[in-house]
Amino acid sequence: MATEMALVKPISKFSTSSPIFSNSRYGKFTTVRMSSTSQSTAKAAAKGGKKAAKTAIKETLLTPRFYTTDFDEMEALFNTEINKNLNQSEFEALLQEFKTDYNQTHFVRNKEFKEAADKIDGPLRQIFVEFLERSCTAEFSGFLLYKELGRRLKKTNPVVAEIFSLMSRDEARHAGFLNKGLSDFNLALDLGFLTKARKYTFFKPKFIFYATYLSEKIGYWRYITIYRHLKENPEYQCYPIFKYFENWCQDENRHGDFFSALLKAQPQFLNDWKAKLWSRFFCLSVYVTMYLNDCQRTAFYEGIGLDTKEFDMHVIIETNRTTARIFPAVLDVENPEFKRRLDKMVEINEQLLAVGETSDIPLVKNLKRIPLIAALASELLATYLMPPIESGSVDFAEFEPQLVY
Ligand SMILES: [Fe+2]
Ligand SMILES: [Fe+2]
Repeated sequence: MATEMALVKPISKFSTSSPIFSNSRYGKFTTVRMSSTSQSTAKAAAKGGKKAAKTAIKETLLTPRFYTTDFDEMEALFNTEINKNLNQSEFEALLQEFKTDYNQTHFVRNKEFKEAADKIDGPLRQIFVEFLERSCTAEFSGFLLYKELGRRLKKTNPVVAEIFSLMSRDEARHAGFLNKGLSDFNLALDLGFLTKARKYTFFKPKFIFYATYLSEKIGYWRYITIYRHLKENPEYQCYPIFKYFENWCQDENRHGDFFSALLKAQPQFLNDWKAKLWSRFFCLSVYVTMYLNDCQRTAFYEGIGLDTKEFDMHVIIETNRTTARIFPAVLDVENPEFKRRLDKMVEINEQLLAVGETSDIPLVKNLKRIPLIAALASELLATYLMPPIESGSVDFAEFEPQLVY
């Protein structure tokens, strides 16, 4: 989890001397490149010249990450010779569902997009671009992981492999649609560059299952909550992308259900005390990351008429309820102590960000950060140690993937 840098580089004959994105509405087109190492940043900066280097923006620990895993272990897990728990008929049924491709014709743009983007002004414009950029990166991250899993599992388990490939199709569509959204703001994320230059976080297969299940389900709840809110409050519908969220989130829901099936096929990841500890750990990290991220971007949520903390708590509670069907333990997120601790973490995180903004030398900044990081860690630990909810009472035999709305 290294601190990463994002770099904005002009791709046309136009050059930009203004800060990131701010002049894009006057006909300039910019490619956003994100790199993971100082070397690649330096290289890209050299290519883009001094002016591009100036526009570097900082990525943090909370930036969407790319994942990789132990593919040999994955192959063993999905080998039907080795793992007798694999319910191939359930995977066959899921495959048919993915092949149906409900959203094949869903992601079609119209002229409303550009017109709406041109009307978004001021600080909301920049935060909007950031929303599109982060969402696109997160979707693209899913695309890369699923595509590789589809490729690597082809021989051992063609059915599971094909589902992964079809999920990567969905994520490519989502990322592409968001990237087209960026073009309404005269920007584009350089996805080819991202693939090569970005740092990949390694997770063992079991952790990929927990983390990906949660991110799919939390994605579902985020999209559907925004969609429903804007349907009820159309005056906040400032950009048409949200109108697509209803069908879009069903893709995420199906992806999550597939991971449920995968977890069921690996009962060793669900049925012991270690599984309970890891389940709680992943719930905590996913919920806290979202809460801290969103609280840094309240302008976006307020811009579409949402109260950031209320929105996040709704998403966390619903995701937790869904997750409790499969994880053996989840956090007691409905206990008011949970939200109190999250809010405390937001305060500490704000102080940490403020330290970064000062003109102190790096050594002084780091010294100032030590007590804050200790406070954040102790808050995280206290939240983790709150009495959990024993869950996962789902009857494995009867469990069916289902749509949650
Ligand atoms: Fe997606
Ligand atoms: Fe997904």
